[in-house]
Amino acid sequence: MSSNKTVLISGGAGYIGSHTAVELINAGYNVVIIDNLSNSEKEAVDGVRKITGKDVVFEIVDTCDKTALRQIFKSYDFDSVIHFAAYKAVGESMAEPLMYYQNNLVSFMNIVEMMKEFNRPNILFSSSATVYGEAENLPVTEQTPRQPATSPYGNTKQIAEDILHDCCRAYEGVHGIALRYFNPIGAHPSALIGELPRGVPNNLVPFITQTAAGIRKELSVFGNDYDTPDGTCLRDYIDVVDLAKAHVAAVNRMTDCKMDAKYEIFNIGTGNPISVLELLTTFESVNNLKLPYKIAARRSGDVPAVWADTSRANEVLGWKAERPLRETLQAAWAWEKNVRNIK
Ligand code: UD1
Repeated sequence: MSSNKTVLISGGAGYIGSHTAVELINAGYNVVIIDNLSNSEKEAVDGVRKITGKDVVFEIVDTCDKTALRQIFKSYDFDSVIHFAAYKAVGESMAEPLMYYQNNLVSFMNIVEMMKEFNRPNILFSSSATVYGEAENLPVTEQTPRQPATSPYGNTKQIAEDILHDCCRAYEGVHGIALRYFNPIGAHPSALIGELPRGVPNNLVPFITQTAAGIRKELSVFGNDYDTPDGTCLRDYIDVVDLAKAHVAAVNRMTDCKMDAKYEIFNIGTGNPISVLELLTTFESVNNLKLPYKIAARRSGDVPAVWADTSRANEVLGWKAERPLRETLQAAWAWEKNVRNIK
């Protein structure tokens, strides 16, 4: 472990960014959080401070603003950056593709350019299982071919992976790791940080917790006629604290100069496929609730099933998902209750 080193976290006030900040601090790193608060709240940084007891540096910066970003690189001494700052709604990206390409790619290229300019070596990029599309063989390994993206959002993940790969190959001092997340869910056990989507949630677990809180009338289960055991889609739901710890393992690997290649990719999931109905009934049973739901039409763009082969992350990063789904779903509800002041 490399203590007292500093990590820059772009998008560190967001859902995965804030949990990662906590785990990095717990592991002995200092963090500098930058975020433009376009889809996050500064209270998340207060949550990080409360949980860790550390006075975390936080600056409101848009990573698309190269001048402001250069100032951050001038002001703080760090070897590694974790780049989370991005838009992430699939449907919105279909309606506003330019906004997605502009924001997600310009911000990432600015980060890489600054790393090169300031001789900072290590870039960790938030990629997604979306790059696998509808894979022929399951579970997917890092060698499973990527499929053409079905949304501009997914395309920005693929293009950013390619940018990182090319830059690692071309620039001597630049090293990169892409973590392909499966479905991040849950919240910190303190219930001080968690997922807080604006508007109607697109993702399953926030929709479930908001339905439990009475904010949504009922959950729509998108399709029960897939070729899966109960007819609903299968996903690999990874606890956000476990996911955050995978970032610590990846940063350790980079800062300890243990990488086998200049650019590496890891799947970050549990390796367990869970159906929508299984997730719903587990949520109900661990939290002692019953939720109104209906079976609705398939959602366009959904793949029937995807889950991770996590052997590479397990063996090479020495990281494994640990938190049982039951605890993750209890934490998700505890967080929602905290946000909504439900006793
Ligand atoms: C989506 C994105 C993924 C992104 C992830 C972020 C795609 C195709 N998907 O994954 O890239 O990283 O969000 O977490 O790019 N469901 C319902 N009812 C709902 C909401 C969801 O039944 O109200 C079902 C969906 O049909 C799906 C499962 O729940 O089978 C999970 O959906 P969701 O949480 O939106 O994640 P993904 O679509 O898998």
